[in-house]
Amino acid sequence: MIANVVSITFTDQLGDSTEIVHQPGGSLMEAAVEHEVPGIEAQCYGAGVCGTCHVYAEPDWFEATGSKSDWEQAMLDALPLSRPHSRLSCQIVLSDRIDGARFIIPERQESLE
Ligand code: FES
Repeated sequence: MIANVVSITFTDQLGDSTEIVHQPGGSLMEAAVEHEVPGIEAQCYGAGVCGTCHVYAEPDWFEATGSKSDWEQAMLDALPLSRPHSRLSCQIVLSDRIDGARFIIPERQESLE
């Protein structure tokens, strides 16, 4: 069954969490920006050139976020705070596959532009 809404939780480095509930479709970044999730800057708004939509997927949810393109991996490799479960949230499709997923916001966003 396809969810009518998708619930996602973002937690910052202080442990403060923000849960959003959003219709599937579009990207995780777009939903986060619409809900004003602190720490998601998304300076290029999905053009894929800034890196300021960086998030860490919690390990149990990493696979559900889908595969990374070579280009996304190259962007992540260039980010100083990148970790093994890093993703660019503009490249994650907001679908029922990630309903209930949890993401960590990096200590800061670093723009690659
Ligand atoms: S919003 Fe700029 S790379 Fe994702």
